[in-house]
Amino acid sequence: MSLETYAQFYALLERQVGIQLDHTKKYLTDSRLAHLATEHGHDSVASLVKFLTTSPIGSLHWNAFEALTTNETYFFRDKQVFDGLAQTVLPQLIEARRSERALRIYCAAASTGQEVYSLLMMMRELFSDLKAWDVFVQASDISEGCLERAKLGVYNLKEVERGLPPEFLPKYFDKLPDGNFKIAAGIRDAVHFSRQNLLDEPAGYPKFDLILLRNVLIYFGNETKVRILKNIHKQLARDHGLLLLGATESLLSHANFRAESIGKVSFYAAV
Ligand SMILES: C[S@@+](CC[C@H](N)C(=O)[O-])C[C@H]1O[C@@H](n2cnc3c(N)ncnc32)[C@H](O)[C@@H]1O
Repeated sequence: MSLETYAQFYALLERQVGIQLDHTKKYLTDSRLAHLATEHGHDSVASLVKFLTTSPIGSLHWNAFEALTTNETYFFRDKQVFDGLAQTVLPQLIEARRSERALRIYCAAASTGQEVYSLLMMMRELFSDLKAWDVFVQASDISEGCLERAKLGVYNLKEVERGLPPEFLPKYFDKLPDGNFKIAAGIRDAVHFSRQNLLDEPAGYPKFDLILLRNVLIYFGNETKVRILKNIHKQLARDHGLLLLGATESLLSHANFRAESIGKVSFYAAV
């Protein structure tokens, strides 16, 4: 099988999902698609890849694309960011929305839910006034598997030991008979989960006061980043809304955002 077929498949992946892979990642493609190939009667990943590049896009394609996403996440990932949110950003946004008593938060590319649940636990801890507010929290991902896990809110011991302050475990999780931990219903039910491809413009979302788009732009090329940031720009509340990226990510020279440094963290406002 020539690398040409893999290259065609990577082009398809980039068009549909935005993720950029090339021949240097063939080992990754082979290991992540091996199970899917066997399950669908292909004797090799190369045979599956050939099939995918020569047939109309269907559910098998989306299963393959999903298998190639990287879903790494953990509770309170990047502590500096959560400190910045707690000490400056949320108080600032709460002040800006005090007359409406409404807050709109979007966690895009939320993977298995740890990020959005971290934010909600932190808000419960520090901003008890918000109980009386209309707080709308949206979380999305392209991966159905991740979304199912996020909605279920069940994590094993290793996952809750990764980043979660120990005192939050008895406070915000129920221990299940199988030894896993389920996020409390009051936190879980506060999140609206939906499948959203960042390449597409979402329909029916409100303007958000805060958007978290962390650790996902790194997988995309510059053109894709610009396309995604255009969508995100439309979703951010114009006067006070803030966008937060991952620690190693930047906006390139996207002119429609203005960087604001808060502590050691950069947030971006839509202009
Ligand atoms: C590394 S995780 C980041 C999770 C979380 N934001 C964090 O920082 O811990 C990246 C997530 O982006 C999602 N993703 C990749 N491409 C996407 C796309 N085109 N649209 C929406 N989500 C995408 C993946 O499914 C994955 O769950």
